[in-house]
Parts: sequence; structure tokens; C-alpha cells
Amino acid sequence: MTQTHAPTSAAPVSASVPMIQLKVKVLRFDPEKDKKAHWTTYDVEAQASDRVLDVINHIKWYMEPSLTFRRSCMHGICGSDAMLINGRNRLACKTLVRDVAKSGGTITVEPIRGLKVEKDLLVDMEPFFDSYKAIMPYFINESPAPAAERIQSEEEAERMAHSSNCILCACCTTSCPIFWVNGSYLGPAAIVQAHRFIFDTRDEATQQRLGIMNQNTGVWRCRTAYNCTEACPRDIPITQLIEEVKRAVMYGQA
Ligand code: SF4
Ligand code: F3S
Ligand code: FES
Repeated sequence: MTQTHAPTSAAPVSASVPMIQLKVKVLRFDPEKDKKAHWTTYDVEAQASDRVLDVINHIKWYMEPSLTFRRSCMHGICGSDAMLINGRNRLACKTLVRDVAKSGGTITVEPIRGLKVEKDLLVDMEPFFDSYKAIMPYFINESPAPAAERIQSEEEAERMAHSSNCILCACCTTSCPIFWVNGSYLGPAAIVQAHRFIFDTRDEATQQRLGIMNQNTGVWRCRTAYNCTEACPRDIPITQLIEEVKRAVMYGQA
């Protein structure tokens, strides 16, 4: 079903900033009414410098209050607004309209794939966070605490610099074809989180985490498809980090 709403503006109207006309196609699903998902099209006026999240917020606030999706920080920090925008996983708050559509163009918005859709763009994140919990995502060190902090060299800190940038947005895991066909794969996000602790010289649970990575739900499922790396809004070189974890598993040490 396609439904078209009259154009309204996603940005405060200013005489100096040109507005562009957009069609925003949203894949909608209401479990109480729909047997399957359907596209609904909204005509929206926006500035090229608006974020896609501004546009979607506008649709919710002024056109379709029942539209359901997650968002919080609006600044690429909380990781809650991952969506499939024009066929690619992105954070709606970090995606500018001008990067995905020209005036008169169409933006498509769908829920991320591989997780159950609860309503519209809202998916069940429980399996994703179960995988996160499975890698023991917390610092483990039973040695007596030093008088001050546990010291790391710059080089040691550098080894976990990329993986500690992860915001758990799920853009990577839900773009991975291996995860789509087998949800038991822990997925790239969980491996990045495991990397963060495996390569932390202050942590003492390296062998336990390498054991988890060596299970049949772990790193060996990765077939270096690279979708995850392309999808990451934090520019984390995920596939490279997965290869580092594979090597650590093979050699029994980080
Ligand atoms: Fe998101 Fe990147 Fe973390 Fe994956 S590795 S969850 S894409 S921030
Ligand atoms: Fe999947 Fe990324 Fe590996 S997309 S197959 S986890 S390189
Ligand atoms: Fe927080 Fe986009 S709303 S990352």
C-alpha cells in the first residue's frame, strides 16, 4: 500500500536557505493491523543540510504520530537510530539529506535486517545484546589494585583504540550476510567488543574470551564479506579487527 501525505517542512523556513522537495518512503509495519510490511510515502520539504533524522522526526511530529523508531542523542553517540537508508545501514542522525537525495528525489527508510521487527523501524535488539553479553564486556582483573591507576603505554592503548570507539549501533552485525542466515553467529559488533578487552593489556580474561571467539558461533564464521566495515558509522576497521582476533585465537595470545 502506498499512501501520500501533503508536503510540509522539516526545517524552520528561512528566506535565505533553499528548500528541497523529497519523497520519503518508509517501510511500515504494525503487528496489530498488518500481516506484512508495506511502503508509505510522505512528501516533505527539507533543507539539504538537514539530517535524515530531522526528516523522520518531522514526519512523526506533524504527519504520522504512530511512526515508531528509536533515537536519543541526535549526535552519533548513543547508537540507537540505525536504519537502512537508501539500502545501506546508517545512523539517521549522521546522514545528511544532501548525501542521499537531490530535490525531487526519494529517500527510502527501512528497519535494519536480521532482527525481528517490532513496529515500523523498531527492531528487537535483545539477540544483539545477548551476543554482546556473551563476550563478557567488562574489565576483569583479580590482581590487587595498584595505589594509582593501572598504567598502559601509548602503544598498548593504541591496540584497542579502534575497538573502544564502538557505540553498539548494530549497523555492522545487521549488514552481515552470515548473521542474516544464522543468527547464532555472535556477529561483528560482539567481536569488536571482544577485541577491545582481548587487546587490553590490563585485562586478565584473555584466554576465556579467546575461547568464546573460538566456538562455532565466533570468529571462524566470518567470511570477510566487508559489509560490516562499510556500514560502521565510527569508521572502525572491523574486518581487520576480526582478523586480529582470529590470529590471537590461532596463537593463543593477543
Ligand atoms: Fe556500530 Fe561500528 Fe560498533 Fe558495529 S563496530 S556496532 S557498526 S559502532
Ligand atoms: Fe560479516 Fe563483516 Fe565478516 S560482514 S562476514 S563479519 S567481514
Ligand atoms: Fe544517538 Fe543517532 S540518535 S546515535
